[in-house]
Amino acid sequence: MLVSDTPEWKALQAHADTTAALHLRDLFAADPDRGTRMCAEGAGWYLDYSKNRVTAETLDLLQRLADATGLRAGIDSMFRGDRINTTEDRAVLHTALRRPAGTSLVVDGVDVVAEVQAALARMASFSDAVRDGRWLGHTGRPVRNIVNVGIGGSDLGPRMAHDALAWFSRRDLTVRFVSNVDGTDFYESTLDLDPAETLFIVCSKTFGTLETLTNARTARDWLKRALGPDAAVERHFVAVSADSGAVAAFGIDPDNMFPMWDWVGGRYSFDSAIGLSLMVAIGADAFREMLAGFHEMDEHFRTAPWQANIPVLMGLLGVWYGDFGGAQTHAVLPYSQYLARLPAYLQQLDMESNGKRVTRDGVAVGFETGPIVWGEAGTNGQHAFYQLIHQGTKLIPCDFVVFAQPNEALGDHQDLLVANYLAQTEALAFGRTAAEVEASGVAPALVAHRTFPGNHPTNSLMARRLTPRTFGALVAAYEHKVFTQGWIWGINSFDQWGVELGKQLAQAIVPELGPGEPDLAHDSSTDALVRRYRELRGT
Ligand code: F6P
Repeated sequence: MLVSDTPEWKALQAHADTTAALHLRDLFAADPDRGTRMCAEGAGWYLDYSKNRVTAETLDLLQRLADATGLRAGIDSMFRGDRINTTEDRAVLHTALRRPAGTSLVVDGVDVVAEVQAALARMASFSDAVRDGRWLGHTGRPVRNIVNVGIGGSDLGPRMAHDALAWFSRRDLTVRFVSNVDGTDFYESTLDLDPAETLFIVCSKTFGTLETLTNARTARDWLKRALGPDAAVERHFVAVSADSGAVAAFGIDPDNMFPMWDWVGGRYSFDSAIGLSLMVAIGADAFREMLAGFHEMDEHFRTAPWQANIPVLMGLLGVWYGDFGGAQTHAVLPYSQYLARLPAYLQQLDMESNGKRVTRDGVAVGFETGPIVWGEAGTNGQHAFYQLIHQGTKLIPCDFVVFAQPNEALGDHQDLLVANYLAQTEALAFGRTAAEVEASGVAPALVAHRTFPGNHPTNSLMARRLTPRTFGALVAAYEHKVFTQGWIWGINSFDQWGVELGKQLAQAIVPELGPGEPDLAHDSSTDALVRRYRELRGT
């Protein structure tokens, strides 16, 4: 049965109709404790969700919806290793990547925690060798530059985490990320690097991704041109993959390969060996701290009651706005420059997971699923797109992410940053009425322009400080928010068939761009564009 056919969904629809006119101004006026009551805490994070267009009844109905869909059992089945990725017949066990050493989880007769811990130990000894200058390149010089070659989950996670935890990273090592098949990416990322001191970490779960293999081949040529044809690969390449055969076929020694498992989705993987470049940058201890933060949030998600459960509350509120309030997008606004790439990372996490239109049984859903996720670090976004959030015509729920203590204490920067964040959430919620604008002496012709409707919903996520631990917990909170929503909608959040068609069509087009006049049989637009490209290219 579709979730939209349940009495719980219908009750929410009726409730949405009767509460449509509610304003946050009225909700706060009627309940002086709202700001301290509507909050949740866990894994070092404080969630204030009081500035949402919800009443106690809304929250109750949303929690009933979660119960009606069996969310508790769903969570348990994920953590247990059931094959909940039904279209690929796989378990979904990224939570096993951060289980503490010494615990065990046996799936299909294999203790996956033991495998994870063994991989972590190998990663630690590799990253220690690089950090200590013991990993020598072909010419005998220590490696000082690490280039991660991967795309999607094999790029966005380690790249975002590397920026996020820059404070904890070794600044004498250079870490770069190459993802795009656009040759510019490789060219610009390696332009100032000395091949003799450069090591490539090729990250690809499948080791069959066109972009990654193309960049890896270019990297091999780049090394060989500089260091000679022999043995360059051995000291300058390691791989992270689930396919050892493909890695060996590329020429990378299987001893220099770190494992991936089919039970880790790419977008849930930077806490596996896919995060090797991150571990080199921040060290094994900090990496383990990050895993401990992930685990802490996992436990919070697994055990906290819905009304105190950060990921579940975030997920339910998203369902409320997307399915019952008409919101199409969700903004993530980190007030931390270190988290500038968090929105880009969350785009894959959320949109590749929940951008689905059929249920796990293949039935068209007929309601809204995953939102468009976007955002920018504060305060930059304020001077770009906040205008539309404040005074435009769209409903855009926002998450504000903020830390109390900066990692670097520079004058009053942090207080100014935090004052801006607080002001934005206040302005979004309460706005400024026409009467208030008039009373401030604004010319009558400008009153409408200077009126702020308010009633724009926001979540605030606050932690003491951005550390590997709080960072891991934050990412886990978003992973589980995505799970919560996918489970409620009854979709499979763990496959990504939607990216396949474009890949297949590209493979067919590649030869048409090669030598000789192609025999084109696409639509008239695509045929004309192929011809125009060939003509403009001039070969
Ligand atoms: O974009 C599709 C996708 O399969 C992602 O899910 C994945 O993160 C990315 O490609 C890279 O895949 P791989 O790690 O196998 O190269």
